[in-house]
Amino acid sequence: MRLLLVLSVVLAVILGCHAYSATWGRRVNNDFLLSRTREVRNPIKNNYWNVNVNYPAGFYNISAVIVYDNFKNNSGASPSLYSGGPGYRFATVNLRGQVNRGIDSTVEVWGR
Ligand SMILES: *[C@@H]1O[C@H](CO)[C@@H](O)[C@H](O)[C@H]1NC(C)=O
Ligand SMILES: *[C@@H]1O[C@H](CO)[C@@H](O)[C@H](O)[C@H]1NC(C)=O
Repeated sequence: MRLLLVLSVVLAVILGCHAYSATWGRRVNNDFLLSRTREVRNPIKNNYWNVNVNYPAGFYNISAVIVYDNFKNNSGASPSLYSGGPGYRFATVNLRGQVNRGIDSTVEVWGR
């Protein structure tokens, strides 16, 4: 019984860590929103979406890149930071969807 409880807690932690929202860097109060991009795609049969969201180099330094998954049911895309990001003036975020599922993610770039 106790083992079962421990196992389910461990499982919950693992599933909880499977994040479809992500933050790189740290945003402070007076940072500006440099860009907000929402990527919405319909599911494709037997295939998945692989979308790059590119923020080209601008004037400001990026302090944080934040990705929100607008599906709140664990079926969204998993984000990764491909290049740039905090400390740079550009960023590329990759959104990798799941097979047979669409994506709906918002990518925010903050800077100062
Ligand atoms: C961006 O960071 C560099 C290096 O720290 C700094 O020299 C530059 O002034 C910063 N740019 C802005 C717009 O704050
Ligand atoms: C997750 O939620 C989205 C939006 O509400 C919906 O379109 C999608 O079918 C859901 N996926 C699953 C696996 O339930």
